[in-house]
Amino acid sequence: MQRRDLLKIAGASAALLGLPSVGLAKQAWSVDPFSLGIASGSPTSNSLVLWTRLGTPALDAAGLTTKPVAVTWQLAHDQQFSRVVATGVVQATAALGHSVHAEVAGLEPGRAYFYRFIAGTANSTTGRTRTFPAPDADVKRLRLAYASCQQWGNGYYSAYRHMLAENLDFVLFLGDYVYEYPASRPVEVRPTTGGWITTLEGYRSRYALHKSDPDLQAIHAAYPWLVTWDDHEVQNDYAGTHEGLSGTPVENFMARRRAAYQAFYENMPVTRASFAKLLNGQGDEAKVFGSVSYGRLATLYTLDDRQHRDLQACTPNNRPGSARIDPSKCDSLNQPQRTLLGNAQERWLSQQFASARSHWNLIGQQTLFGRRNFSTTGGQLIRNDGWDGYPAARRRLTDSMMQTRLSNPIVLGGDIHENWVGHVLSDYNNADCEAIGVEFCGTSITSLSSTTPAQIAQQLELNPHFIFANAASRGYGVVELSPTQLTTTLTAVNDARDPKSGAFVLAKFAVEAGRAAVNSA
Ligand SMILES: [Fe+2]
Repeated sequence: MQRRDLLKIAGASAALLGLPSVGLAKQAWSVDPFSLGIASGSPTSNSLVLWTRLGTPALDAAGLTTKPVAVTWQLAHDQQFSRVVATGVVQATAALGHSVHAEVAGLEPGRAYFYRFIAGTANSTTGRTRTFPAPDADVKRLRLAYASCQQWGNGYYSAYRHMLAENLDFVLFLGDYVYEYPASRPVEVRPTTGGWITTLEGYRSRYALHKSDPDLQAIHAAYPWLVTWDDHEVQNDYAGTHEGLSGTPVENFMARRRAAYQAFYENMPVTRASFAKLLNGQGDEAKVFGSVSYGRLATLYTLDDRQHRDLQACTPNNRPGSARIDPSKCDSLNQPQRTLLGNAQERWLSQQFASARSHWNLIGQQTLFGRRNFSTTGGQLIRNDGWDGYPAARRRLTDSMMQTRLSNPIVLGGDIHENWVGHVLSDYNNADCEAIGVEFCGTSITSLSSTTPAQIAQQLELNPHFIFANAASRGYGVVELSPTQLTTTLTAVNDARDPKSGAFVLAKFAVEAGRAAVNSA
């Protein structure tokens, strides 16, 4: 494709190819407007979203708090920006929190690019990003990191500093990017400003707090991200249109959810189309689920198990939110129509499975997939907020994997702040049934778990489809794929309370293509 075509596609003005505009005074800044960093994401084989958001201190100091600011973006082959392939100008408006989303199309597949933003006299740092290979490309390798749950006050983002050196193709973030809590329990390692957040302004400033972290900024600038959300981007344990449990209930939960969803859009490298209805005031919903192929090697599905789910079943005393419940005492748990993904997403996913042609199918979703019995008394005790709370929906998903003969399904999750590794079963009520896939549920970047090593040992015994679990470590996982093998390496930081923490390999696993079996490597 010719450079001039790319410019057309990008809707760019050739006069702005990195050159200062003539005759117009450039906005001078006394504070860096790019204090929230930059990011790229939502990669496909020919498109990317470039993101930044101007920081409030710079806008306030310049008297631009309520005014639009023109921000130029550039995408280039080289770090010096001497070979710019696409550029454009976005008006960063107060209505969208002065965020900038440049959706760049017409790019070459499987290619690295550099990008930056310019506002008046200020340049952002330079980011590096990468498109995915063409859908029919014969790809030999894919390397991704998966991460979730980065409670600000529980620690520092040292894990991301170690992730930087992992030579990744992309980062997959599985939810709880921010938390709505005023402070962290049990110890506040660094202060969370802003109290409980329930309004658009509140969510914006909570994202700004997180985005101020240098390690988070660096990992965003180094790799494209694919993102989904969990509950804390809105409120602990919320379920679809039902309020969860944390803080004082708000008068209008759907208004709170809309504000939180808008703030998510404003702070993530995601497409406008996915949030268009919400942003145009025409609806409450955003589309966060999707799929993208990585050559013929893998298809990646990102799911949304929060927005479209039914209420948790049998939480005691009719209170909202989650609980550990005895499934034998909860009739409604097994109602066949209960859904975690919502009917539309379920239908879409089985259609996707039916047409999947990749060696590997990676399903990035929020939480632990397999059954986890917590009972210490020989009975059953399950958590009703995850897949265990929606057994019919889980069964429909595993049935769909089997009926479509989905090739090498790998489920990736987060939410529980613990590493769990195991086999996906065709029927979690039958311990002798066949394994049909493999699951890696990741620990948190910083958020804590209170499960003791003794409890972990006992739960592994009770739930033998899992081969490994660890609640003590914070960190991330790296999945490396070839056409014949998958390896997953779990990296843990020594101490997430230390901003300079070292890291170590906690465990390593391998899966051979064609066999739904995971082993220590
Ligand atoms: Fe979390």
